[in-house]
Amino acid sequence: MPLTPFVDVLPLPERLLARDHNGRLTVRIRTGSHSFHRDLPRSRVWGYDGTLPGPTIEAERGHPVRVEWRNELDGGLPVIVTMAGDEVDADGVPVQCSPGLSGGTPDPHAAALTGHSVVHLHGGLTPAVYDGWTENLFAPGQLAVFDYPMDQRATLLWYHDHVMGVTRFDVYAGLAGLWIIRDQRERDLGLPEGPPYEVPLLLQDRNFGLDEGGRLTGQLVHKTDPGVMEAFAPFTVVNGKVWPILDVQPATYRFRVLNGSNARTFRLVLLRDGVPEFDRITQIGTDSGLLREPVALPPDGLVLASAERADLLVDFSDLQPGTELTLYNTAGAPFDGAPFPAADAADAADLDALLPYPQVMRFRVVPGPVAHRPVPRELATDFALPKPEELDAAPRRAIALVEREFEDVPNMLTMRELAVVDDEDETTGPLITLTDGDHTTRYRAVAAHFEDTATFFPMLGQYEIWQLINLTDDTHPIHIHLDPFQVLARRPIGWEIPDDGIGDLDLSARITLGRDPDDELDHVIDANERGLKDTVRVNPHEIVEIAVRFHAYSGRYMYHCHILEHEDRDMMRPFVTMPPEL
Ligand code: C2O
Ligand code: CU
Repeated sequence: MPLTPFVDVLPLPERLLARDHNGRLTVRIRTGSHSFHRDLPRSRVWGYDGTLPGPTIEAERGHPVRVEWRNELDGGLPVIVTMAGDEVDADGVPVQCSPGLSGGTPDPHAAALTGHSVVHLHGGLTPAVYDGWTENLFAPGQLAVFDYPMDQRATLLWYHDHVMGVTRFDVYAGLAGLWIIRDQRERDLGLPEGPPYEVPLLLQDRNFGLDEGGRLTGQLVHKTDPGVMEAFAPFTVVNGKVWPILDVQPATYRFRVLNGSNARTFRLVLLRDGVPEFDRITQIGTDSGLLREPVALPPDGLVLASAERADLLVDFSDLQPGTELTLYNTAGAPFDGAPFPAADAADAADLDALLPYPQVMRFRVVPGPVAHRPVPRELATDFALPKPEELDAAPRRAIALVEREFEDVPNMLTMRELAVVDDEDETTGPLITLTDGDHTTRYRAVAAHFEDTATFFPMLGQYEIWQLINLTDDTHPIHIHLDPFQVLARRPIGWEIPDDGIGDLDLSARITLGRDPDDELDHVIDANERGLKDTVRVNPHEIVEIAVRFHAYSGRYMYHCHILEHEDRDMMRPFVTMPPEL
């Protein structure tokens, strides 16, 4: 192992309580110096207030927060960006997980980096002018003052960079921080709030350069391997430390978990002496706050794709001091929704064989007061699925996720917005057909790239059904700005795209509802997805239907895949929310 695991203490990001500053905060976007691990030289990073993660901003529902984001970046991107490289490193570790940089060619996008920035509050109900539109940049020396109304449910949000085409580098360099909204409803449940029993966990993966002697240098490396669109890095970093350890008392802890990786999906299992401890963990919340009721973790682990969050209660109260529990990741990369292939997912030895470095972090029980907290049985009652009559009238929008060659990029990912071609229309041309039993709907692609004219104009207050149709082989976490949504259905599909079928708008595809014979996924809505979400995984061979309703602000917003390498390469589209008709 190139770095010793579980030697660095889990850092807790600095807390920036909005109420201590009258709701007015200043955050400096700066170059900083950061230690990812005891045995690594310090790394140059970009960070909010120069730190990685940035300060955790804590706000109260109903109390607006104004942030002055000051861009004080200087000195260029602190990340070596490379495509290609050797196929296998000296230890024979597969290339997509090989630690360190060895050769490779610079990514042309790196040249575009000039330290311009824009900040987005992910999951925030934010007026469009303050939402961090990807092209509204502020240069070094400039600032932006954004108002966040905080008129929304208590939950864990995060703020991160969102610059068009290079978000993946900026976030990777360190531009991400947590933002917690609290409210009285949540406080009444008596959940842990603040240290020591409430602990944020920001999970990311990072890679570092190697010097001539083959030693890790600490230099951040963003490496995209040939044939793979995403940058996966071998070292899991929690709150900025590689494989940290947290001392816990025999008590119930609340972990606010965010996957803030560029591309990696985690499937988390907690092992004690090689045996999974699922009963120890209860999930109480998801992206946009508390679930209706607590849910047990799925038997093969908690899946979190980029930007997904989980609010977890973990009970250590029955454990003797000295007990160690280790959090592991069992998800493959790229992630395609497939279950963990090992016969016994519990076996740490299997894990080590499957993934080069599956460990995430460790918990060590230390002596302290025993403090067990029961899990509240009812959590939230402030939301419900839309009623059938609300959905009958709901406009439907279909979006196909498609991978294709485009100019010099071999695997550009796009979202094709589809418009229904009605039965009278005699158009032949390239069409997408969706067959459900004996009913076939015909569509035409009407937008493919970010620059294409907006075609989605949802009306405030009205439910819509968005169908996300995955015509690729990987899972895409699709994120919609502004209001959260609810997952209505996951349904298996088969699909075919004729060889010449993927043009720009001239997409032809035949999609059939029903299971494809080679498909092994379950396509079910997990219990922990029955809450308010702002990011939803769309697995291969799947249509995910979500109920979307925007309510407060009209304006131009974005939705996109949250795999940052996909978002940057065009898997992003605008939509415009409209005031209700008179
Ligand atoms: Cu977390 Cu538009 O993103
Ligand atoms: Cu994607």
